[in-house]
Amino acid sequence: MTDSLDDRIRRLLDRDEELLASPWQLFDDVREASAPAFYSEAMGAWVITSHRLLHQILVDPATWSNCSPTATYEFRNPVAEHAHAIEKEPEMAEAVRRFRNRSRGRVLNTADPPEHVRQRRALNRAFRPDRLRALQPEVASVSESLVAAFAPRGRADLVQEYAVLLPMVMISRMLGVSEDELAVFKGWSDDFAIPIGRARPSRDEVRSYIKSEYEFDEYFSVLVEQRQAEPRDDLISDVANAEVDGEPLTHEERMGALRQFLLAGNETTTTLLGNIGHRLATDRGLRDRLAADRDLVPAFVEEALRHEGPVTGLFRVATRDTDLGGEPVAEGEFAWLAFAAANRDPELCPVPHEFDIARHPNDHVAFGYGEHYCIGQGLARLEATVGANAMLDLPNLVLARDHRDAFMDSYILRGRTRLLVGFDPITALG
Ligand code: HEM
Repeated sequence: MTDSLDDRIRRLLDRDEELLASPWQLFDDVREASAPAFYSEAMGAWVITSHRLLHQILVDPATWSNCSPTATYEFRNPVAEHAHAIEKEPEMAEAVRRFRNRSRGRVLNTADPPEHVRQRRALNRAFRPDRLRALQPEVASVSESLVAAFAPRGRADLVQEYAVLLPMVMISRMLGVSEDELAVFKGWSDDFAIPIGRARPSRDEVRSYIKSEYEFDEYFSVLVEQRQAEPRDDLISDVANAEVDGEPLTHEERMGALRQFLLAGNETTTTLLGNIGHRLATDRGLRDRLAADRDLVPAFVEEALRHEGPVTGLFRVATRDTDLGGEPVAEGEFAWLAFAAANRDPELCPVPHEFDIARHPNDHVAFGYGEHYCIGQGLARLEATVGANAMLDLPNLVLARDHRDAFMDSYILRGRTRLLVGFDPITALG
């Protein structure tokens, strides 16, 4: 007997390895079977795989709130239960108290208009184009030093030795974190990802998550105070001094924004770089074409974003009774916006499963759309372009014989956790 759509969605939620590796057939089946929208009992949400419906939701934040974009009920209840038990541990009591206060705070990806509009106005300048242009040489130099560490070997894990590190080093520099604290910073970033798509986190995981948020706040409160006293021309100073019409952001808004820059910026860009590396190591014709004409790299990056979107899907919740293409939706019901699925909707583009850098236009929603359109997309595109060029410089790049695809343990984010490659060793760089 074949599994029902809902059984297959449950398997995705349970992080079935096959579905994490390739959810595409499931998404097509949901899109085709659901006229016009599919309610999944397993997920407790409407599963939106159609580009048209996804767009309808994204442009209507008054009806579709973002106050709970990554957590289903399944996740929130275990956290609340675990937090209750963890609070009894004396050294964790203060951290849990702050965590509870914080969960009521709404910042950027967990905020709705009008707060969200105010926060974006205050923070948009942190990623303004001239700052990104000025960063380009630094991204290139970090990239070169990462490549130099493995180039003579002729072999590397491009995820762990490159794709994880490039965004991490860049964002830590931009936030004023010193190099010797990078490992701590990486630990926080990993812990912040615990609630992202992990349906049932353990008590130890919830403890790490709460503890890391506490430590992060302590660390950045000091840095923010320093930059308020002595602003510099950097991202952390922009956040520290962000204001709208003379009104500063609150402390919780600043901390929330910084946490999101760390989390939303790292895992996603790592995934994109991993997908780029995989494509280059497996499609020789494309690699030769790009190597011969580097002007094609930006179009290649856009197609990588569309074809394997790093964010599989995020939640919205209905603030009032509404409908999805005529299907009634009650206030309080969730929708899971499957960005990666909408990018492969045949209504968006022809032959969507094919990887084609000549697509024009390429109006993917890998960075979302509307109010919450990714604030860091310029940085991500810069790092991806530099990364793709660096990988194109590895002669005769191929997948290593012992490479086996392995994917992140999440139904919210989709990306490889390793990418073993071989290439002709490079002994002299530069
Ligand atoms: C390839 C890399 C990236 C991808 C695919 C990506 C994807 C997304 C998506 C789909 C959204 C919209 C979420 C929604 O509508 O609920 C979003 C928002 C966001 N992204 Fe990214 N992102 C990437 C890189 C970054 C970077 C580098 C940063 C910061 C350093 C960042 C920070 C954020 C923040 C703070 C938001 C929330 C914005 C808001 O709600 O106003 N992202 N991103």
